[in-house]
Amino acid sequence: MAIETRPSYGHPLKPASRGPGSESGLDPNAPLPGVIGAGPAMREVYRTTRQVAPSRACVLIVGETGTGKELIARAIHDLSPRSTGPYIRVNCGALTESLLESELFGHVKGSFTGAVDNRTGRFEAAHTGSIFLDEVNSTSPKLQVKLLRVLQEGEFERVGDNNTKKVDTRIVAATNRDLLDEIDVGRFREDLYYRLNVVPIYLPPLRERRDDVELLVNFFLKRYAEQNKRDMRRVHPEAMRRLREHDWPGNVRELQNYVERAVILGDGAELTVEHLPPQLRGETTPRPIRHRGTSSADFTVLTSELVRQGIRAAGPNANDLHDRVVGQVERELIQQVLQTCDRVQIKAAARLGINRNTLHKKLSEYRIDENAPAAGPPNGDGEDGHDGGRTGDAPHPYDE
Ligand SMILES: Nc1ncnc2c1ncn2[C@@H]1O[C@H](COP(=O)(O)OP(=O)(O)OP(=O)(O)O)[C@@H](O)[C@H]1O
Ligand SMILES: [Mg+2]
Repeated sequence: MAIETRPSYGHPLKPASRGPGSESGLDPNAPLPGVIGAGPAMREVYRTTRQVAPSRACVLIVGETGTGKELIARAIHDLSPRSTGPYIRVNCGALTESLLESELFGHVKGSFTGAVDNRTGRFEAAHTGSIFLDEVNSTSPKLQVKLLRVLQEGEFERVGDNNTKKVDTRIVAATNRDLLDEIDVGRFREDLYYRLNVVPIYLPPLRERRDDVELLVNFFLKRYAEQNKRDMRRVHPEAMRRLREHDWPGNVRELQNYVERAVILGDGAELTVEHLPPQLRGETTPRPIRHRGTSSADFTVLTSELVRQGIRAAGPNANDLHDRVVGQVERELIQQVLQTCDRVQIKAAARLGINRNTLHKKLSEYRIDENAPAAGPPNGDGEDGHDGGRTGDAPHPYDE
């Protein structure tokens, strides 16, 4: 979790009563320091950022990963009259519910095991400054209620405390998921969404502003050449063409990494196609070697994505989501387990932790041919091979 207390750049507009950029002679569409992009979508970002910064309004920054949400959050703080106060970032996606609650709101000694001292939360630490709630979409329902109250009343209690604290903290939040989708599936409170979304700032993905690719490449080329004392200062037209045409799933962060790597690994004055990663050279990408078995974090992300896709595929009028989504997963699970148990049903039932008759019923319900192979990969991310002989009594990573 990155916590910063001093702003590092920017031109604060003070006092807050000043129009956004007007009296200071600043063009409201002028780029923000360190933020590159000249197209209409980014100019709109600059304008809204400058307009909203002097106020106390809550800002919700929306954009795919790597589009610059954190840069904009920081710019809002730096351009605000609070710029001399603390700027505190909390990544809501990185902590469990109870740790995040204590991180945000603090706790009193003895309120839970391990609470050996009173602790000030981040909201209090950000008093007179700004707090940036990154990945706010990851907060649990309980914390969403608490956040709503801070947003509405500026009030909260430390964990385990009855005393109410009041803070003057400006809230900026970011999400890389569409919160309206999250509301639809019941993962995000609608009232909190409207409270957070007072001023939305949308950061477009790089593939929708390809004209900025050249600017960004040159910006990072200069930065990394200087940092690494290298000579590279030009980009071959063919390399630039490929960079421009790339789809950029990781957005600016991905571009930044490619340029840094090219500067470090390349030599000479020109960045050429050879310095680009395989997928931009037209070669197939070697997939990163994955650890055998999936981590529980991956598993959670995959489950969430699977459910999302299931809901989307079913369409807005579906009234059989449970059957569609859970049924699909159950069918696949049974098929894979049957296969790892050499299609011996008694073993598969034990492995699944269900009754043999239940398994039998499900096989006919899902019309699973007892001799058919599973649809998913039998190896790789699966679990057969290394523990195919388990009988169900050892703890399993996903048993919890
Ligand atoms: N328009 C831009 N100009 C210059 N650098 C940028 C721009 N957008 C992003 N970057 C750089 O790209 C990297 C990723 O940006 P940032 O961390 O702000 O993305 P993010 O939207 O917060 O992503 P995530 O959702 O993954 O946290 C940073 O190093 C940032 O400085
Ligand atoms: Mg971020």
